[in-house]
Amino acid sequence: MLFDGSKFLRRAGRPSPTAAAQPSPGASLLGHDDQGRPVLQARPDNRTAQHLLLLAASGSGKSVLLAWQLLQEVIWETNNVPRDQWQCLFVADPKNDTATLLLEGIFVACPERARDIVWLNPFDRGFDFNLNHLAIPGVSDEVKARLVADVTAIVSTASGAAASGGAGSRQLDAWLHAILGSLTITDPRAHVLLAAEALATEAGQKRLAALTKSPQAREFLQDATLSEELRSSTTARLRLCFGATDMQARIFSSNRALDLGDLLGAGKIVLLPVGDPPGGLKSLKSLWINLFGRFVIERLLSRPSPWRGHHARIVLDEVQEALVLEDAIERIATVGRSKGVSGIYASQGTTLIADASSALLKVLRSNTPTAIIGRSNFADARQFSAEQAPLPGVDEAPHAVQQKIMASILSLPDRHFWLLRPGQRVRFQSADVAVDEWRRNADQQAAVVAAIKARHGLADAQQSRVTLKDLMPEKPPRAASTRPRSRFG
Ligand SMILES: Nc1ncnc2c1ncn2[C@@H]1O[C@H](COP(=O)(O)OP(=O)(O)O)[C@@H](O)[C@H]1O
Ligand SMILES: [Mg+2]
Repeated sequence: MLFDGSKFLRRAGRPSPTAAAQPSPGASLLGHDDQGRPVLQARPDNRTAQHLLLLAASGSGKSVLLAWQLLQEVIWETNNVPRDQWQCLFVADPKNDTATLLLEGIFVACPERARDIVWLNPFDRGFDFNLNHLAIPGVSDEVKARLVADVTAIVSTASGAAASGGAGSRQLDAWLHAILGSLTITDPRAHVLLAAEALATEAGQKRLAALTKSPQAREFLQDATLSEELRSSTTARLRLCFGATDMQARIFSSNRALDLGDLLGAGKIVLLPVGDPPGGLKSLKSLWINLFGRFVIERLLSRPSPWRGHHARIVLDEVQEALVLEDAIERIATVGRSKGVSGIYASQGTTLIADASSALLKVLRSNTPTAIIGRSNFADARQFSAEQAPLPGVDEAPHAVQQKIMASILSLPDRHFWLLRPGQRVRFQSADVAVDEWRRNADQQAAVVAAIKARHGLADAQQSRVTLKDLMPEKPPRAASTRPRSRFG
């Protein structure tokens, strides 16, 4: 059966997509061109893994278009594909709107899939996530520590924690080993904040050396002599990432286990809405997107290749927040196909991305042959139009074509986009999605929606956070000594 999306569209006199209007099984309807013809986007699969870049000004309809496309994929596979081949979705959303739309859409249009939604809101009360208990099948402790170290070093630098500039190599070394040490303590109460405690004092450093089971971390911590300046700056940066707020400290020191193998299983819809950080702390948004993004991508790329299992989709809305993921995104582009992974990256424009990371922009531009461009600023309009040539069989000067498209991109109304892919260029208006109905429905069933959102959280764990000292084995009572306690004792 082909997916009949008409039930979920607003009835507004627009041509509605019927089964007959969808020639390609499983393709999503993006919208309609000027002649009312459907414009489609093929469902991703392991053979074709299509990466997509979506750029348009704020308010022009990116999030609705994205959520709508993903929703159609979910509905289609639910009706047509065996369960073990359902794609898993990971959606990182710095504004919460795409994640919310998708949750509400699934709730209305495909309620049987609501149970597959994993709502990971790190800023919700009850969210628990101890890095020590995070299992990433296929990824070693050393690699995990390296990922955590990279992400937190860059996030804390970007957020201005290090007024004196970026982290030096000596600092990074201490940082990496302290994190590795804290992640490899066998006591189940251990947590990553112990790394900050270890770097704060020499005694802490020695304690961590005694507690870690990583020989590499132990050796460094036993031998390294760190300056006071280095101690205080690294400790401050670690606290900024893992202990910036009480909630953050509690999350990282909980005893909750999370297994990314389960989380990225067939059919899972993992939503990471980080739009609402406590105190508006932007660094926390960035931390969660980059931390989870790294882990998820690492996990997916550790799958055997050629991968014959379920496809995985990574969606990064406001991709400029993915500060440290550029090499991970590049790997998705290069080996994603053999691992069954594809990416969708959305942003308001390339300037924002370039400001965050010029490498990230380069990687995105060279690895996403399909782009959807809505109303954009001059730089983007010029860039994307410059790549356009006359369509086959059309007698037009390249220059004139480019001028026309550039003018069009500069003045596109909301919900109008250009779909640009090799061999195809079409302007379309996005399908009319009944977002208000979705919202009303979710409001009416607020309790059920809240239950979906709360499922991943635990009731506040009130355990107190342990320190390195708490974890040290008790020294056997010393035999009565004949030595005085001190020279003056
Ligand atoms: N396809 C659509 N159908 C119906 N309403 C839409 C559609 N696209 C956008 N809208 C309306 O426009 C608003 C802004 O769209 P949104 O997708 O949030 O923009 P962006 O993500 O580009 O900032 C939405 O809240 C919705 O009210
Ligand atoms: Mg948006």
